[in-house]
Amino acid sequence: MKAVLTEHLSKTYSSGKKAVDDIGIALEPGEVFGFLGPNGAGKTTTVKLLCGMLAPTRGSCRVFDIDSSQNPEKLHQVSGVVTEHAQMYDYMTGLENLIFYGTLFGMDAAESQKRGAELLERLDLLDAGNRKLAAYSTGMRQRLSLARAMIHHPKILFLDEPTSGLDPESAQNVNRLIRELADEGATIFLCTHQLRYAQEICTTYGLIDEGALLAAGTIEELRELIFSGVRVIVKADRFPKGLNSRAVGNGVYEITVDSEGEIPLLVKQIVDSGGDVYHVSAEKMSLEEIYFSLIDRRKVGKEDERHE
Ligand SMILES: Nc1ncnc2c1ncn2[C@@H]1O[C@H](COP(=O)(O)OP(=O)(O)OP(=O)(O)O)[C@@H](O)[C@H]1O
Ligand SMILES: [Mg+2]
Repeated sequence: MKAVLTEHLSKTYSSGKKAVDDIGIALEPGEVFGFLGPNGAGKTTTVKLLCGMLAPTRGSCRVFDIDSSQNPEKLHQVSGVVTEHAQMYDYMTGLENLIFYGTLFGMDAAESQKRGAELLERLDLLDAGNRKLAAYSTGMRQRLSLARAMIHHPKILFLDEPTSGLDPESAQNVNRLIRELADEGATIFLCTHQLRYAQEICTTYGLIDEGALLAAGTIEELRELIFSGVRVIVKADRFPKGLNSRAVGNGVYEITVDSEGEIPLLVKQIVDSGGDVYHVSAEKMSLEEIYFSLIDRRKVGKEDERHE
């Protein structure tokens, strides 16, 4: 069973805006999926469709085989969601809010209290737990909303920019918690603009732009889509002529080879020509480079279409 399965998923808002256009995503249980794309790309709309907050105009989406729009109650039992505007109650304390949501999910009060207190501690909110939500800062609310999403041990978490508005330390805290949840086996669907951090925690990625899924897969699969070679950085005191190298610094050269297997031969050629090698590293495209490359490629494609 797939954790997430969408087929031809599309959403056109009543304004006529086509926000999600024929998206197919299949996620295995336990995947940490980074859903990336520029502002207005359709990420939040996709999350809302997956969580049953919006109904698709066309196509379908299933979460652990539950149809999101047909069976939202069942879906809520297995999923948790953090969106931009979490609904919680200002007149209740942080802990009371968590207990309230725990009991909504069918947990008893004692169990909700225990789990709530544990989550408050993990999110560095233990002291704030007994304060009314009205006195919370934005970042505190954001963290409490994550605790709320996790109160009932969901199998899958939909996190729509869970670290937006958080200071660096709180963001790190939240990111650490996401990683712990993934280690415990939860499936995570994470919309984020923090590409560096996404690269550290996600196992697979999807890139969306203007409602269309541009690419999906592991980072290796995405790299293959763009460029299958390996950039090698070499520091040597002498470099044989004839190698297709480019100087990038004092005695530092960049050479592109077809695969990592060619690196030993490259080093041998330098040594055989009398050069001493001080440093060799294979540079792989970062998620950030992949992102910009795919977005740029789409822009160029659209320009070409316009000129045809
Ligand atoms: N309720 C709505 N009615 C009409 N159009 C909407 C509505 N919500 C979103 N849109 C439009 O749909 C498109 C996709 O929006 P969405 O919020 O899904 O993007 P996003 O990828 O989450 O962007 P961001 O990174 O800024 O959060 C945008 O053009 C947006 O203006
Ligand atoms: Mg959004």
